[in-house]
Amino acid sequence: MITHEKIEKNLGLLIVLTILIVSVGGLVQIVPLFFQTSTTTPVATLKPYTALQLSGRDIYIREGCVGCHSQMVRPFRAETERYGHYSVAGEYTYDRPFLWGSKRTGPDLHRVGGRYSDAWHYAHLMNPRDVVPESNMPAYPWLDRPLKDAAIQKKMRTLNIVGHGYTEEEIANAPAELEDKTEMDAIIAYLQVLGTHAPRN
Ligand code: HEC
Repeated sequence: MITHEKIEKNLGLLIVLTILIVSVGGLVQIVPLFFQTSTTTPVATLKPYTALQLSGRDIYIREGCVGCHSQMVRPFRAETERYGHYSVAGEYTYDRPFLWGSKRTGPDLHRVGGRYSDAWHYAHLMNPRDVVPESNMPAYPWLDRPLKDAAIQKKMRTLNIVGHGYTEEEIANAPAELEDKTEMDAIIAYLQVLGTHAPRN
């Protein structure tokens, strides 16, 4: 029988046993997630982002919106009352990289789609104080410029490698979809789709 004292005084044994315990603990948590339908299946209506939404998502990343906004509604009453159904794993299938965030200077945005009109978002992004007088969110007036996303088809093909399933037709039509659009149009299209596939309460 090895006593606690013996393990603590034998560094090699302590390291081996620590690794063993941490590995088992980790596997017990991680392995079941590969087999649970709730973590491996996209929610019913989920679709990959359209070309415009995908471009908008990249602008969201570029502008650092994730630094102030999370995209994960936690399963607490205070959150579900405010935002709607808590976020589930199957909503993030086409989120590469994830934008869960860990800072909420502003509200969570995972359910913001459809909450406001496109015109509201436009006004808000041009100058948040125009629609929310007490807001301390920065203004993003430069987004009102033509959208230039020359790499859109390459992005879609790359995402296909990891299973997004864009058809050749969707990829071929992407540049036309972005034509005459502004960066503002793209980021609003992205905001408006967030949470629209959420499970209903
Ligand atoms: C410095 C922190 C900060 C950054 C960066 C920021 N926001 Fe905000 N955002 C806020 C705050 C605070 C609010 C709440 C007040 C308001 O509505 O303006 C807010 C509110 C919002 C809302 C309304 C949410 C709701 O449910 O009412 C949207 C949409 C939004 N932000 C989008 C964005 C986008 C898109 C970006 C990036 C282009 C961005 N924010 C960057 C702080 C920030």
